[in-house]
This record gives sequence, structure tokens and C-alpha cells, in this order.
Amino acid sequence: MREKVVLAYSGGLDTSVIIKWLTNKGYDVIAYMADVGQGSDFDTYKKRALKTGAVKAIVEDLKEEFVNDFVFKALKADAAYESGYLLATALSRPVIAKGMVKAAHKEGATAVAHGCTGKGNDQVRFEVTIRSLDPAIKIIAPVREWELKTRTEEIEYAKRHHIPIDVSKKKPYSIDVNLWGISIESGKLEDPYYEPDEDIYQLTKSVARAPAKCAYVEIEFKNGIPVKLDGKAMKSVDLILKLARIAGEHGVGRSDMIENRLIGIKSREIYEAPAGWVMFTAHKALESLVLDRELAHFKDGLALKYAELTYYGLWYTPLKEALDKFIDETQKKVSGTVKVKLHKGTCSVVGRKSPNSLYRKALATYEEGDLFDQSLAKGFLDLWGLPYKGLYKGKV
Ligand code: ARG
Repeated sequence: MREKVVLAYSGGLDTSVIIKWLTNKGYDVIAYMADVGQGSDFDTYKKRALKTGAVKAIVEDLKEEFVNDFVFKALKADAAYESGYLLATALSRPVIAKGMVKAAHKEGATAVAHGCTGKGNDQVRFEVTIRSLDPAIKIIAPVREWELKTRTEEIEYAKRHHIPIDVSKKKPYSIDVNLWGISIESGKLEDPYYEPDEDIYQLTKSVARAPAKCAYVEIEFKNGIPVKLDGKAMKSVDLILKLARIAGEHGVGRSDMIENRLIGIKSREIYEAPAGWVMFTAHKALESLVLDRELAHFKDGLALKYAELTYYGLWYTPLKEALDKFIDETQKKVSGTVKVKLHKGTCSVVGRKSPNSLYRKALATYEEGDLFDQSLAKGFLDLWGLPYKGLYKGKV
């Protein structure tokens, strides 16, 4: 009997060629498509997979799971890799890999396969997740081992094997899309001094084309999670989609980075995450109102670690799990509303309120009603400065 393999299928050239390649190696290929909000034409891709030789094609809607169990955990952690990447692609890999493992169990497959190259981060995220969820499943990465070295060779292979694929126009970039954002790389972007053409951007308007008039949005959080937009309760997926439209219209959410990949290469990346950046900014603003200083500063350090763990494919690991528990504890107070102004590519917090606010006007004010006893400051400063008294004497 032929062994079954579950392939993470995108509908593009690489994974279509992989269907044929694996079939020729003796496998029955099950094409697996996870809907994480990439807006693909899944019906067409399903047909394409079957025509190419897959024995079955599965589409699974993972949007809610992706947002609630992955994206919002990273949001609660304030995770941004190297300050500019909200990890849209990185967060999607473990949920897709989990879906693949489940599908493999259901279908009685002995192997899973993906179309990642040996140079990127995504292979790491897929394989570490799969291994951690089921070490018995065989992992096949055809692009790392096959004889097709260039895109032209792949196209020739596709033609030779009558793979129904549109290769008429060369794709200028490598693009990964989901609900949380878009990642764009390669092509002309490989020159780090090259300014991307405006038409590379799909979710955000340029500053020049953004309206002259600003817009305001109000985001209400409950325990660190956005639950209302402009006073209206919405499901997480819809809230992201709606906010992305508004923020994108105002040119908010772009980044252009040289980033450090896990495998050591530096790469140029263009990202768009319009809803993500508004939520990230608003969430941090709310935390600054409700978290005490020590907790807030300590948590800042964890944000960096959390982003690294996500980026490095270490989602299903004990440290990440333990951090989630700690972060959830910190989010018990992170409920309230943040008012954000969007204007010509900027996203500024202009107001915040919470029943758990630690801000005390009576202590902060310089006006009437001041309850702060300034005479206490003298004793505090005598002790605070005590260890350093005279240490730099004679330096000036
Ligand atoms: N560099 C990003 C990451 O490692 C994005 C990779 C996205 N892949 C793509 N085909 N553009 O998460």
C-alpha cells in the first residue's frame, strides 16, 4: 500500500510541483490548505491539487483559532521582532503545522511535507512544531532535496508533467498573506537600498494618498484582548478586518526592515500589519495606565523574548507556555478603552481610560487638590542617594 503524506499546499508553483514529485516517489498526497485569512481562491486550488495528482484536497478554516490562540497571545505579550515585525507569518506556521498533524492522524498519513526552502525561518517553525506535536511523523522538505535548482527548471518540470499552473508572468516577489498581515521579500527587494514601488503594498495607502483628514478609533480591551471597536462588540476576526481597512486607508502599518533570520542570514523584508500596529500601540498604552512600574518594566523584557520564541519556531515549548501563564496573570487588569488617532501614516494614542487605572490625578496634579506630601521627598532622596554619596568627588 502507498504511504500517505499531508502536504501544506498553497496552490502555487512550488507546492504544485511537490504534489507530482511526491506522487512519483510513491506517496499518496493529501493537499492540505489552512485558511488563515490569506484570501485564496480555495475552490480553484482544490481542483488544481486534484488535477495535479493529489488523492484528496482539504481546506480548513483556522482563522478563529489563529487569532484567538496565536495572534492575541502575541498581542498580550507586546511581541514585535526586532521592533518592526508583528510576526504575522511566524504566528501562522504553528497553527498550520498543528492542523497538518491533526489531518495526518485523521487520514492515517505517515508523513507531512512542506514547500519551504532550506534558507528560511518557516521550515524551522513547521518542523519544530510538527516534531514537538508528534515525533513519529516523517517530515519531507522536497525543495531542500530535489534536483530542481531554479524556477525555470521547476517550470519545465511543471510543463513536462502537465501541472495546471499559471506561470505566464514571473512573480516579482515572494509574498505571504494572512489575517494579521503581509510579508513580502525577494526580487528587487534584495537590494537593501532599493525603495519599493508603491504598488508592492496591498493593505496600506501611501502617506501621499491617505486622507488629509484624520480618523479616530476607540478600541476596548478585556483582559488584554480587543473586544470592541468604536463601542461595537465584534468577533475577533471581524474586528481585525475592520480595523485593518480603517488603518490601511490612513497609511498605518508599514515596515521596511533588514532582519536577522534564525539561520544567520540577514534579509530584507517589507511588512504590512495595519490592524496589528493599531492594536499593539493601543494595548501598550492601556498597560501603561494599569500596570505598576515594576511589572510593566519586567514585562517589557519578556516581550523581546516572546517575539524571539515565536520567530524561532519555539511556540510549543515549555518556556513559551510558562510565559503565557505569566502574561495572562498580568492581563487581568488590562481592561479599558484607548482612543487612537490615525493620520497620514501615523497612529497616536490620544486617550486612555480603565476602571483599573493606577493614575491618580490627586497625586500627579500641580493644581489645587494636591494630596502629595512634598516634604516626604527629602527623606526619600537622602536614602536613595546614600550609596553614591561622594563617589565621584573630585571629578569636576
Ligand atoms: N521573514 C519573515 C518571517 O520569517 C517572513 C517570511 C515570509 N515568507 C514569504 N514567503 N514572504 O517570518
